[in-house]
Amino acid sequence: MRALLSVLLLSNLSSVYAAEINVNKADISPYAKADAIAGKKLVDSYCISCHASSFGGDGSSIYTREFHKVKTPKGLVAQVRNCNTMIGLQWFEEDELSVAKYLNNTYYKFSE
Ligand code: HEC
Repeated sequence: MRALLSVLLLSNLSSVYAAEINVNKADISPYAKADAIAGKKLVDSYCISCHASSFGGDGSSIYTREFHKVKTPKGLVAQVRNCNTMIGLQWFEEDELSVAKYLNNTYYKFSE
């Protein structure tokens, strides 16, 4: 009985600990678990033409220009949301996070 109790206690503790890790991770990188491949498809379909018309080429120099606006993972999500809202795509949050993950992996490279 005592052994069973301590096993139960241990497994409870470890799930609390795991939950804390997830919360901390979410603070650092809101898109840690998002799908970058889905994000690339969305960017290719909806986001390139307008950036390209102002910045030339495939428009990606908007992300890598010297004084780019986005400085943090949270800022990246916020900017994805701004552009998304501006063009009225009505994406789900999941889509915004996938796009943020793709842009981070490819251009911004903030550590997760
Ligand atoms: C109608 C034109 C337009 C479309 C479409 C558009 N954007 Fe933008 N985007 C802009 C402009 C203009 C800026 C620069 C804003 C500034 O410098 O203040 C920008 C800036 C950005 C930045 C910040 C770049 C930096 O400086 O770090 C990101 C990230 C971004 N857009 C993501 C997206 C995503 C994702 C989409 C597709 C949902 C998208 N944009 C669609 C016009 C557009």
